[in-house]
Amino acid sequence: MNINENYLNLEQSYLFSTVAKKVNDFAKNNPGKKIIRLGIGDVTLPLCKAVIEAMHKAVDEMGVQETFRGYGPEQGYDFLRDAVKGYYKTHNVELEEDEIFISDGAKSDVGNILDLFSKDNTVLVPDPVYPVYVDTNIMAGRKVIFADANAENGFLPMPDDKVKADIIYICSPNNPTGAVYNKEQLKKWVDYALKINAIILFDAAYECFISDETLPKSIYEIENAKKCAIEFCSLSKTAGFTGTRCGYTIVPKELDKLNKFWLRRQTTKFNGVPYIVQRGAEAVFSKQGQNEIRENINYYKENAKLISQTLKECDIWHVGGEHSPYIWLKCPDNMTSWEFFDYLLENIQVVGTPGSGFGKNGEGFFRLTSFGSKENTKEAMERFRKLFK
Ligand code: MLT
Repeated sequence: MNINENYLNLEQSYLFSTVAKKVNDFAKNNPGKKIIRLGIGDVTLPLCKAVIEAMHKAVDEMGVQETFRGYGPEQGYDFLRDAVKGYYKTHNVELEEDEIFISDGAKSDVGNILDLFSKDNTVLVPDPVYPVYVDTNIMAGRKVIFADANAENGFLPMPDDKVKADIIYICSPNNPTGAVYNKEQLKKWVDYALKINAIILFDAAYECFISDETLPKSIYEIENAKKCAIEFCSLSKTAGFTGTRCGYTIVPKELDKLNKFWLRRQTTKFNGVPYIVQRGAEAVFSKQGQNEIRENINYYKENAKLISQTLKECDIWHVGGEHSPYIWLKCPDNMTSWEFFDYLLENIQVVGTPGSGFGKNGEGFFRLTSFGSKENTKEAMERFRKLFK
């Protein structure tokens, strides 16, 4: 047999696994020290009441012969696809149910969707960006090229007519920089993709953090986007489902073959999200659910404000945190990203994510998340003040 040697071209371990290992080693060697984790974007608030009630009810149903469910539809139950459809209507996007595919999260789908594309496609990825886009394409041996995101272009690279790509990733609001494309900018990407016959893979996992109504939450708010874009979203950050696992992917019918192939792929390789989880996810889109998750999102946004305010006081250059849970900062004293990581861990036991893990343009930058508890975020910022003011 021959193994997939493309794996040899990857970094030795996934960014967040490397961070976790370093932190665990530090904790083992420094047992008395309280570590505050503002690294991986994992939520800390519990699931909201509407979700818990719906899941309890679903558990009871599973214990009764008449309402017990076995295999469900691989692409999700109608009740949840209908709820997602209703949610898109609130930002004036009309979807059909069979364009909506329920999944166990955006990370898996962003990787799995590549099953539909040939190995010789060229992939255009912003740099810096969520490392899964690059890693999953390296695993398949695809050629990856980069669109530079930097302070000069507001971390929002725009299409370049000289560049030819087949698959284009866009993450807006962006992980890790927090930058958000406006409608005019996204339209340029849509026009470009249509012109060069490329597909856009649009990651909307952080759309719920957008608080400016004029900014697009979905790429389908842009005219003709259904002809060239697949959208991924997740309840992980929206409703605290990082451990519960549920997301959705939109493959428009305009992308005729891709819609059919994705259904074929999912029915073959995926058995769907558990009924109990889908009932919980449905409740996110209820009136009560929307009110409750909004409170949680606002809680994280308050944390982001506090981080941003503290960095300002410490004279540390940063962006993000406004329409995103991430704050992207320039490492002080020209430290590299990993030097700054070690410096914070050693001196104040605050964990963040080294910017270089998101791409070469991330070198010298660092990401903090607002998903911590209010108490821990406050304490972390007090430690920052002591160290940098
Ligand atoms: C992150 O910290 O970038 C995210 O939590 C990773 C993810 O969503 O998989």
